[in-house]
Amino acid sequence: MNRLPILAVDVGYKKVKYVSHQHEGIFNAVIAPEKTVMSDTYSAVTKSTPIIVDGTAYWFGKDALYQPTAVTSAKNQRMTTELAKVLVAAAAWESSLEGDIFLSTGLPLDLFKDEQAITEKAWLGQQLTIEKGGTRRKIHIKAVELLPQGIAALLYALSLKTIAEKWPTSGLVTLIDLGERTTDVATVRADTLEPIRGLCFSIEVGVRDLKQQILRIAKQELPLIPEFMADDLLKTGTGIYRRQRYDFTQVRRDSIEQFAHQIVGELQTRFAASDSLIALALLAGGGAEVLGETISRIYDAEVIEEPTMANVLAYYQKAAAQKFFS
Ligand SMILES: Nc1ncnc2c1ncn2[C@@H]1O[C@H](COP(=O)(O)OP(=O)(O)OP(=O)(O)O)[C@@H](O)[C@H]1O
Ligand SMILES: [Mg+2]
Repeated sequence: MNRLPILAVDVGYKKVKYVSHQHEGIFNAVIAPEKTVMSDTYSAVTKSTPIIVDGTAYWFGKDALYQPTAVTSAKNQRMTTELAKVLVAAAAWESSLEGDIFLSTGLPLDLFKDEQAITEKAWLGQQLTIEKGGTRRKIHIKAVELLPQGIAALLYALSLKTIAEKWPTSGLVTLIDLGERTTDVATVRADTLEPIRGLCFSIEVGVRDLKQQILRIAKQELPLIPEFMADDLLKTGTGIYRRQRYDFTQVRRDSIEQFAHQIVGELQTRFAASDSLIALALLAGGGAEVLGETISRIYDAEVIEEPTMANVLAYYQKAAAQKFFS
């Protein structure tokens, strides 16, 4: 009897995060069906090998970005969509998994209660055929585990020694997930880990808005700078475009500062409406990598270790604590 290999996946609007026994990684959630790739303008940049899931070819990440019809996993982050299936298949491929697997993943906190059962059912028993570069693998989802996003990240934080040591004995603990499209807040009672309904919410502001802001200002100087440079602008503020070196580090710094104040302002308004005490505030999500330091200067919050991977690491831990055998 063998333990089922675990594949943990966090499908985000921007990034797919995955963890398995031997692999972990992140790839862009942008995909495009192959047939949209064949326009002349773009063919030169899309030479990479597509991934074929159940007979349909898809391009991933940067290659797909060039496609006008590129789609993302994101619209409503539901794991039952065709898109989620392709992204999970890609994660399985990247993890070199084959045969029976145990899928551990998440659902948005607000959907969890209503959709846990139906989503589990939709995944269970799925068989996917995945091909890339002439190699074919089959996976069979034999067990499924779902956790609510945000709560999962909190559980991961609690598993860290540095956070466990300062975990309060009373009051509330909140986790702020700075994502691409939204900022998601999950709040629990410190002692029982019971979620506090009124303090689990989403703000429709995310890292994407920060990138748009930097891009807008950069365009005043370099009008032709393309949308897809926004990620680089956010990461460093500098780069080369059409052999011209640019430096938007100051724009980047100012935008981050302003954006951090905006987020903190909105959070404070929401928290002020409740009189419960936030005893510990934690920051996670990809946004914490770039904004965390600035936010923690103006708001008493701490960036957790591996903020981008927090949810998916909890999915993995949860599955690893179960015993499923093939
Ligand atoms: N080290 C880093 N430096 C700069 N930006 C980063 C870094 N790591 C991640 N980001 C950016 O943070 C943003 C949010 O990433 P994250 O993975 O949290 O989004 P997501 O989970 O896909 O989105 P959502 O939660 O809204 O669905 C992305 O734009 C990503 O490029
Ligand atoms: Mg996310």
